[in-house]
Amino acid sequence: MTHNSAAHKTAAHNSAAHKTAVPKFGIIGCGNISRFHFNSLEKAGADIVHIADIDEKAAAPWVKKFNARFSSDYTRLIEDPEVTVVSILVGSSLHYDIASRAIEAGKDVICEKTMMNNAAEAEAIVRKVQASDQLFFTGFMKRFFPAVMKAKELLPSLGRLFSARVRTYQPWGNFFEADNAGDFGFVLGNYGGAVTKCAGSHMLDMMMHLLGRPESLFAHVDYIPETQFDRKTAILFTYPEGMTVLFEAAAHPLKKIGYERNGWDEYIEIDGVKGRLELHTVLWDHPENNAPLLVHYDNERETAVEYRGDPVNPFDDEMKYILHCLTARQEGTPDAVDGFNTDMVIEMAASSAAGRKPITLDWKGL
Ligand SMILES: NC(=O)c1ccc[n+]([C@@H]2O[C@H](COP(=O)([O-])OP(=O)(O)OC[C@H]3O[C@@H](n4cnc5c(N)ncnc54)[C@H](O)[C@@H]3O)[C@@H](O)[C@H]2O)c1
Repeated sequence: MTHNSAAHKTAAHNSAAHKTAVPKFGIIGCGNISRFHFNSLEKAGADIVHIADIDEKAAAPWVKKFNARFSSDYTRLIEDPEVTVVSILVGSSLHYDIASRAIEAGKDVICEKTMMNNAAEAEAIVRKVQASDQLFFTGFMKRFFPAVMKAKELLPSLGRLFSARVRTYQPWGNFFEADNAGDFGFVLGNYGGAVTKCAGSHMLDMMMHLLGRPESLFAHVDYIPETQFDRKTAILFTYPEGMTVLFEAAAHPLKKIGYERNGWDEYIEIDGVKGRLELHTVLWDHPENNAPLLVHYDNERETAVEYRGDPVNPFDDEMKYILHCLTARQEGTPDAVDGFNTDMVIEMAASSAAGRKPITLDWKGL
């Protein structure tokens, strides 16, 4: 990465003498994503002491399972002196308020992706984190697939990079011949956008995790007419020395395409003078079906090696890692800057598309 998040805190910050040694979790939001956090935190041995949701029924099974306190008002959870880390698992419109309050209350934060509603909010959160003693993690769990870690390890062997291609196609249905988003309309209110935020954000993070931050972008965003529902986004990114990345996200009706032949068609391909890496991910909420596939083409040995590990749930490794960082008072990634990077790219892509112009990215010194 082009940022070094570990560098900005002092040893005094990291000592965090005021913290209890054992992280105590407060979880806000018991919807779709929460079961992955609860189950993986439980496997990691985390202590969940407080749970909040405006829907008491949604929280009830988890409150019972972990013998936790319950609040319908998340500010009560943030004020709870026993809670040392707040997990934000609600829709994106609430992320800023909760994260700000939690940091100000001296809590560490785990924030689901996308981190904030826009780049300005994301920048403000990074600055609050950097001025605090707290640790902050953003929920790009796909980085924790073993195949992604292997890709990161193999990347230097590709030599000088000249091109990459990133695709995230998800089988949501046919929005190209519909005049509204039907059952998917809720994503605008819940997640602040459609395919770019819901699907694209993970692969934009993957791109920057592997390749660093681009210098500029030029985007086209295709919406269902008369709506804010982005059904397809194409972005050309430029990097130093002529390196380019072609990115595409789409909600589509094709049921059998992709590595798993289930309509989930998500990959990153990176080309260097000494070889190519090709990484295919798997359906996000069923990682137990298959492991992601990594192929390494080595141009010098003239080999193509396929890495197919056992299927693993990336949330398990993500939560284990975060718990370790929290316990050791050690910064880790993906962090707030990583969340900012993706929020910035998504906002600038929309802006580029609206103005039909390329944009030089201003990373605000972060
Ligand atoms: N990492 C991933 O792949 C992934 C996948 C899905 C969702 N997400 C992210 O997770 C977050 C939550 O998404 P979801 O699909 O679980 O949403 P959801 O709508 O299924 O669940 C949200 C929960 O928050 C509760 N809630 C709403 N307002 C609240 C408030 N004011 N106080 C307390 N609780 C409140 C709701 O009652 C609901 O139980 C979003 O940021 C989303 O982008 C990430």
